Amino acid sequence: MLRTNTCGELRDTDVGKQVTLAGWVHRRRDHGGLIFIDLRDREGMVQVVFDPSLSQEAHETASEVRGEYVLQVGGEVARRPMGQENPEMGTGEIEVRGDTVRILNEALTPPFYIEDEAPADEALRMRYRYLDLRRPEMQRKLMLRHRIVAFIRRFLDARGFIEVETPILIKSTPEGARDYLVPSRVHPGRFYALPQSPQQLKQLLMVAGLDRYYQIARCFRDEDQRADRQPEFTQLDLEMSFVEQEDILQLTEELFTALVEEVSSKRILYKPFPRLSYEEALEQYGSDKPDVRFEMLLVDLSDLVADTDFRIFSSTVADGGQVKAIRVPGCADYTRKQIDELSEYVRQYGAQGLISVALTAEGARSTIAKFLSSKALDSIVGRMSAEIGDLILIVAGERDVVAESLGQLRLEMGDRLGLRDDDVLAFVWVVDMPLFEWKEQEHRWDAMHHPFTAPVEDDLPLLDSEPGAAHAQQYDIVCNDVEIGGGSIRIHRRDIQEKIFTVMGLSLEEIRSQFGHLLDAFEYGTPPHGGIAPGIDRLVMMLAGEHSIREVIAFPKSTTATDLMFDAPSPVSDEQLKELHLRLDVDDE
Ligand code: AMO
Repeated sequence: MLRTNTCGELRDTDVGKQVTLAGWVHRRRDHGGLIFIDLRDREGMVQVVFDPSLSQEAHETASEVRGEYVLQVGGEVARRPMGQENPEMGTGEIEVRGDTVRILNEALTPPFYIEDEAPADEALRMRYRYLDLRRPEMQRKLMLRHRIVAFIRRFLDARGFIEVETPILIKSTPEGARDYLVPSRVHPGRFYALPQSPQQLKQLLMVAGLDRYYQIARCFRDEDQRADRQPEFTQLDLEMSFVEQEDILQLTEELFTALVEEVSSKRILYKPFPRLSYEEALEQYGSDKPDVRFEMLLVDLSDLVADTDFRIFSSTVADGGQVKAIRVPGCADYTRKQIDELSEYVRQYGAQGLISVALTAEGARSTIAKFLSSKALDSIVGRMSAEIGDLILIVAGERDVVAESLGQLRLEMGDRLGLRDDDVLAFVWVVDMPLFEWKEQEHRWDAMHHPFTAPVEDDLPLLDSEPGAAHAQQYDIVCNDVEIGGGSIRIHRRDIQEKIFTVMGLSLEEIRSQFGHLLDAFEYGTPPHGGIAPGIDRLVMMLAGEHSIREVIAFPKSTTATDLMFDAPSPVSDEQLKELHLRLDVDDE
């Protein structure tokens, strides 16, 4: 070993020890005669002092080094002189009196300082990710990720789960996103697809009798990027046989509770995790991933305002739309300009505008007061249980638009009022999902989760008569406005699985060619089974208090799905294309 100790581990109990350390020069200060170097490694930082009266040679070498040089330093651990302790550093009580130093490698001046504070330009961070990852904060986040995954493995191992790896080169499987395709060299014109998740494989493992499977699985989806979406990401994929929905919910809840307690100081707001039906989530929060850290629920006013003279309200209701509102405490003094800003805000989500009612000591004040009778205004105030000082914000429009715009406004007001504390984790289950959603453009039903999700037993007859009314044995685990994971009880009978594909508009031929393997397997004694797949990246993001999964992935793709370090995707040689039997048809920009 090139060292006896790590930089970050030395304490005052080590005083008097002769140590050899290796690490990077974090900072060097020349204090007339004495040279101070903060030496850094993964475990932390320690101050090394070079005194010419101790070693002229070491002092001379130390005077040559620059930031990010890699050094090996020998010396004795000493208590820092009185008054020079640094309580910010773990090693702040001591320093190492350097008597030897060897430059193991030099370094160019990095394009940004290796400090906890991230450089503003994310592209620069991505291009030099190996330097960005040197920042202590990034190292802490990757270590947290490691501890989370290690905990999950121990937890599941103790409950009899076994980890099985499944292939990355498989066949295109429909799970809602576009597939990444890999051309086959040996089978011209044919393609593998990268798995969007191991969904079918884990079900086949249940057919194989490998009850209680899990995998820290890499998944690939070619979809638009967002702060919580990457083209490749990691799931804790798990599946169990002979279980019901309740068993999966229990297991997940135990896992998350134990995990949070083990790796973080964050507080879980509700235990057991509350459950909302999909319908309730949309009605009350305007979202299928509700942030339940705070109330400010969406309240339906449609019946109250249907017959008012205010045409926007009455015609919206007459056309089958909704008029809904939130009550924001303490914001009655919002100015006209502030309300206009909020109107702009909801317009981004398709709303026509925003109507406000402020409850002041002098009564209700509203831009539309002249269109509403005081009785109507009072009934709104009453329905909202509003008190003096409250601001009522109202949106009218189509159901979906009202849900989304008012739901987003609720989050915005929650932020403004400081109600969304990152140290509080509000896990909530969203259950009772519809089985299908209607795809207007394609004019067909599509599976809401994925086509392998089992319908609620009693709703089976609806598959023929009214597919849109059928519910699924599906559940999403949501935390603070982020969907952390989703899962379901699966179909385990060929006839029902075929029925679902038929409702989705697949022909018998398509069903056979795309899903023949699964349907065949179902005929060889398939146990009832179900599972879930929490997204590891999102889970780590929450526990690290971050708002983008790029912060907790070692080498993420950029927002345009590129790898700025490798410069990927990149062109390939004509030779490679030829081998793959591919010819490009790309417009030159
Ligand atoms: P689903 O598609 O809901 O279910 O995905 C499960 C979880 O994976 C995470 N996730 C993502 N994370 C980062 N980037 C992405 N592009 C991305 N897409 C999804 C989310 C999500 O909740 N096979 C089913 C699971 C099952 O039924 O057991 C599935 O993949 O956290």
